[in-house]
Amino acid sequence: MSPPRSLEVQLAARSYPIHTGPGLLNRPDLWRPLLSGRQALVITDDNVAPHYLQRVREGLHDLDHAVLVLPPGEQEKTLARFGEAIDALASLRANRDATVIALGGGVIGDLAGFAAACWMRGIAFVQMPTTLLAMVDSSVGGKTAVDLPQGKNLVGAFHQPRAVIADTDTLATLPPRELRAGLAEVVKYGAIFDAGFLDWLDAHADALLTRDADTLGEATLRCCRYKADVVALDETEQGERALLNFGHTFGHALETAAGYDRYRHGEAVAVGMVVAARLSAQLGRAPSADCERLSALLQRFGLPVQVPAGFAAEDLLALMRLDKKTLSGRLRLILWQHAGKAEIVAGVADADILAALRASQT
Ligand SMILES: NC(=O)c1ccc[n+]([C@@H]2O[C@H](COP(=O)([O-])OP(=O)(O)OC[C@H]3O[C@@H](n4cnc5c(N)ncnc54)[C@H](O)[C@@H]3O)[C@@H](O)[C@H]2O)c1
Repeated sequence: MSPPRSLEVQLAARSYPIHTGPGLLNRPDLWRPLLSGRQALVITDDNVAPHYLQRVREGLHDLDHAVLVLPPGEQEKTLARFGEAIDALASLRANRDATVIALGGGVIGDLAGFAAACWMRGIAFVQMPTTLLAMVDSSVGGKTAVDLPQGKNLVGAFHQPRAVIADTDTLATLPPRELRAGLAEVVKYGAIFDAGFLDWLDAHADALLTRDADTLGEATLRCCRYKADVVALDETEQGERALLNFGHTFGHALETAAGYDRYRHGEAVAVGMVVAARLSAQLGRAPSADCERLSALLQRFGLPVQVPAGFAAEDLLALMRLDKKTLSGRLRLILWQHAGKAEIVAGVADADILAALRASQT
């Protein structure tokens, strides 16, 4: 078996490892030493549990551990399900040295991480991402949250994991739609940090879509490196880290407007990136040709790039105002300078935002 590829997320208070590679769920030697206490709660969902739960439980056989299996999907990332996670920790009579293990996609990672952040004011957790999106983005960096009907991720905390264990073999069972959704966040890194990575993605699109293990492994590692670097610079998103939200203010509004079950998160982000790029071009801040190229790459990955008819631009703008980047009622957007470079911009006129939304509508 090939050794894991590893890197560190270097933080001021504490660093932690990201291990990626095949077969890592069968490697408790990588993560068991990080569990300091005698108790663990594994949180996962109905789709992931039948494939992978047993492997994790084998690594915990000598610990007092419990399992919480939740129904899958964004519509379950709620305060009510968070309450179930807290109840499970209470039933386990978890001490402060207990560990929460998040086994699943970004929904499980965000919710389990938030439960770990809140139980006894914060206990350890380990991320075991099983979607491409979670491997390249959500499992790294310590953002945890649940949604409200009024908006996504409105209740949450920064709480860093002890480790990220990304077993790339788990991508074999991921539905094709979820793989494509993850590729949206992969494209995002190229869009905001590295135009050369966009070229690489273009050249390797077929290999990624057909799940060539080496190519997916390479893409995952590169994305983890981009994310680890920006989190190390700005752990709690006071500046640079906000660039990772490219496309997200528009995308979150779309997800909320659609009631959390129509779009995968990555799909909404794909639409949002194109709207943000189009707005940037419209304002003369970014070349239109880059915008078209971004849109073409996302479509090559089978991702949507247009706001569907039936969503009023005014309603989406109203939802965008509840975005966490809004300060003192002033919307701040991540706009584009060109392929590989994004910027934070405040004070964009409503009329321009509405025009970009309408121009992106089918
Ligand atoms: N914390 C962060 O920094 C951050 C960053 C980006 C996204 N997010 C959040 O991540 C969430 C989206 O994550 P996601 O796209 O992973 O969605 P998800 O967790 O809903 O997983 C997608 C689907 O795939 C299934 N699944 C997961 N792994 C599988 C596997 N290996 N085989 C078969 N099925 C599998 C799940 O059950 C689910 O139905 C959103 O809530 C988003 O807000 C958080």
